[in-house]
Amino acid sequence: MTQGSLKLGIVGAGFIAHFHARAIQSVRAMVIDGVYAPRGPERLSAYVRKLGVGDAKVYNSVRELCEHVDAVAIYCPNFASLATMEEIAAARQAGARVSAVICEKPLGRNVKEALRFVQLAEEAHLLTAYFENQIHMKPIQVQREQLRPQQEAMGPLTLARCAEEHAGPHKPWFWDPTVQGGGVLCDMGCHSIAVGWYVLNPLGKPPQFLEPISVSCDVALLKWGQKFWREKLLQEQGVDYSKTPAEDYATGVITFRNPETKQIAKLQFTDSWMYDKQGLRLYMEGLGPGYGFEVNTLQSPLNLFIGDSAATAIGDQESALEKSTASRGLLSVQVNEPDLYGYVDENRDAATRFLQWDHGLLPFSYGLAINKLVMACYMSAERKSVIDLTNPTIQRELESFVPLIQQGRGAEML
Ligand SMILES: NC(=O)c1ccc[n+]([C@@H]2O[C@H](COP(=O)([O-])OP(=O)(O)OC[C@H]3O[C@@H](n4cnc5c(N)ncnc54)[C@H](O)[C@@H]3O)[C@@H](O)[C@H]2O)c1
Repeated sequence: MTQGSLKLGIVGAGFIAHFHARAIQSVRAMVIDGVYAPRGPERLSAYVRKLGVGDAKVYNSVRELCEHVDAVAIYCPNFASLATMEEIAAARQAGARVSAVICEKPLGRNVKEALRFVQLAEEAHLLTAYFENQIHMKPIQVQREQLRPQQEAMGPLTLARCAEEHAGPHKPWFWDPTVQGGGVLCDMGCHSIAVGWYVLNPLGKPPQFLEPISVSCDVALLKWGQKFWREKLLQEQGVDYSKTPAEDYATGVITFRNPETKQIAKLQFTDSWMYDKQGLRLYMEGLGPGYGFEVNTLQSPLNLFIGDSAATAIGDQESALEKSTASRGLLSVQVNEPDLYGYVDENRDAATRFLQWDHGLLPFSYGLAINKLVMACYMSAERKSVIDLTNPTIQRELESFVPLIQQGRGAEML
């Protein structure tokens, strides 16, 4: 491990890799020293150098990257993540320099894959950080500190409502449930479940303190199930959603129990790819006895207005707001999305802790716990029943459970 500044290597050179490069501009203890991707690493490398956040040398394999950096971040598509982890662990076992690994959500597409991530990291003695940005969001962290007196006087939050919604992902692979792992529940449900669980946890307790005891979930194909939208998807992304459909809407309730006080807390989550409004919306609300908080990322201090007579689009629609759907009219603009969404703080957390030879705030074991909750949600939707997580038979079933939608059999239930 390099003292002072963590040398990071990135696998994958797409959307999230570029987002993290912007975030790392605000992190003093991390530089992007190398990149590997089968396609487009040069573009990422040039971007990193332009931002001044590292040399980002292009390597020809994961193995070679591992020889030169302290930590590797897995930012490739879900279908390639576990194979990448296998390569990182093998390189470490063979004596490569790498000693820590980051994985973007989700940690594997089902519990079996997530367990393998955890095992590989343990066997190779790798430090780990599971990247769930929403927990690191400043509004989430600040509300916890500001509401400390209320929590201490009245007790912790007992109801959280969390949502992540936009009009659909940017790359075809996200739409194929057999390679992505599912639809919006796998892609974004993991965020809302994680941040909801986190805010319900009493202050000072670890992220897995509250015990999840039951899950109830419903999934549906709303917008993209309609003929017109299915055809548009086929035309624009080359995805035939009539063959292997996945949910574009998921909602559910997870019940938690405080192991010390036995107090029950509930998380309601909603995630969709059919939010045909401004662009990405993250919403979190928490209610405790006599107090609460609310976060809505579509409320910005910067609004732009472009009327009909001006009739031209804004300068850069995508950098104004992630997945924005409009370029004129009344526009809400976020001026620092990497910071707002928590990417700055999660990179800072990983860099600081890795340099102190510690795991990230959210190690891979936490990613496994989130994966298990997402799989329990799919199980509940398939069985149309509440899943009792205190039942040892259910826990055993979850270890090998692969949702019908992930198997490409979504048409049987959607
Ligand atoms: N935290 C968030 O909110 C968030 C947002 C977007 C994506 N993600 C996650 O980040 C990961 C990447 O998503 P993305 O949007 O950047 O995807 P993307 O398709 O934009 O980019 C993927 C990159 O990986 C590369 N790649 C493809 N196959 C590979 C392989 N076998 N080995 C190594 N690299 C390979 C591609 O060439 C591309 O550069 C996914 O796991 C996704 O779930 C997280």
